[in-house]
Amino acid sequence: MKSQEIRATFLEFFKSKQHLIVPSASMVTKDDPTLLFVNSGMAPFKEYFLGNGTPKKSRIADTQKCLRVSGKHNDLEEVGYDTYHHTLFEMLGNWSFGDYFKKEAIAWAWELLTEVYKIDKDILYVTVFEGSNDDDNLEMDTEAYDIWKQYIAEDRILKGNKKDNFWEMGDQGPCGPCSEIHVDIRTPEEKAKVDGKTLVNEDHPQVVEIWNLVFMQYNRKANGTLENLPNKHIDTGMGFERLCMVLQDVKSNYDTDVFTPIIREIETITNTKYRVEEKQDIAIRVISDHVRAVAFSIADGQLPSNTGAGYVIRRILRRAVRYGFTFLDKKEPFIFRLVDILSKKMGQAFPELKAQKQLIE
Ligand code: SER
Repeated sequence: MKSQEIRATFLEFFKSKQHLIVPSASMVTKDDPTLLFVNSGMAPFKEYFLGNGTPKKSRIADTQKCLRVSGKHNDLEEVGYDTYHHTLFEMLGNWSFGDYFKKEAIAWAWELLTEVYKIDKDILYVTVFEGSNDDDNLEMDTEAYDIWKQYIAEDRILKGNKKDNFWEMGDQGPCGPCSEIHVDIRTPEEKAKVDGKTLVNEDHPQVVEIWNLVFMQYNRKANGTLENLPNKHIDTGMGFERLCMVLQDVKSNYDTDVFTPIIREIETITNTKYRVEEKQDIAIRVISDHVRAVAFSIADGQLPSNTGAGYVIRRILRRAVRYGFTFLDKKEPFIFRLVDILSKKMGQAFPELKAQKQLIE
């Protein structure tokens, strides 16, 4: 399945479950002082979770452009070295604002993955929050555990700690226990040697989280304490590029059709070949990732600069330039030449890339 179809299928599925489909919000946050960029699908909806506003509908789904290079969620230094972290990525999400809760969120996630996308159940693991004995003193999420039992063998339901199974958008804000869905896409030989469940959340490139279902019920206050939200909500986020890796049966996000056209263009421009030499491969991955982050950011109105959010973009651009200069031996500017293929491939889903192409270049 091509990436365009994977994205459309997600949105169609939730439309059929009475969700309103909305376009991605801008990645650049102008009215949330706790964030420089949207770092998760739920960030644009934060005020609805807190009860400070009312959404157009109590069920919404979308794909949201996210940037994880600053603040609590920061993946920058991993990008390029591994095959599944990105600066900019798309997060497919469905939301319930005081509408459905755990039962439906879990049932629909399972239905979409196993019946619509037809992912083999035997490559899936799920996690639930085990509770915490710290100041928050939270109980284990037995409700989620009992719901998952209806769908998946109990030895595939793993308990996770606060770091992995209690989602918080930042130091403050809405939060709650979560259940993650992980895939194990290793070969049968590798699976026979090492049990997949020992690799969940252990940074294995082929045993990765694809979807996080967050059961929002608290607000973390500035003084560090938790208070109950006025209502319970659902916030889910599925890593689009990772989902494409699974459905396109490849072992790296960079081998999906989200990245291969950009990589082919880098090879042509720099006269190199991907997958020949490790240092060059890293550089090619860095550049193919970073050009997306910089292009989407400029399209959303955040240009590189020397302060604040602009400096984050400048650092990403500089990292891409440095890898091209050092490892691909490219001494003249070339990253702007990738914008054309990017806007051709992604411009349908994100028309701002086409509209702002010249400015971005
Ligand atoms: N907020 C959760 C996350 O970013 C799920 O969308 O992982």
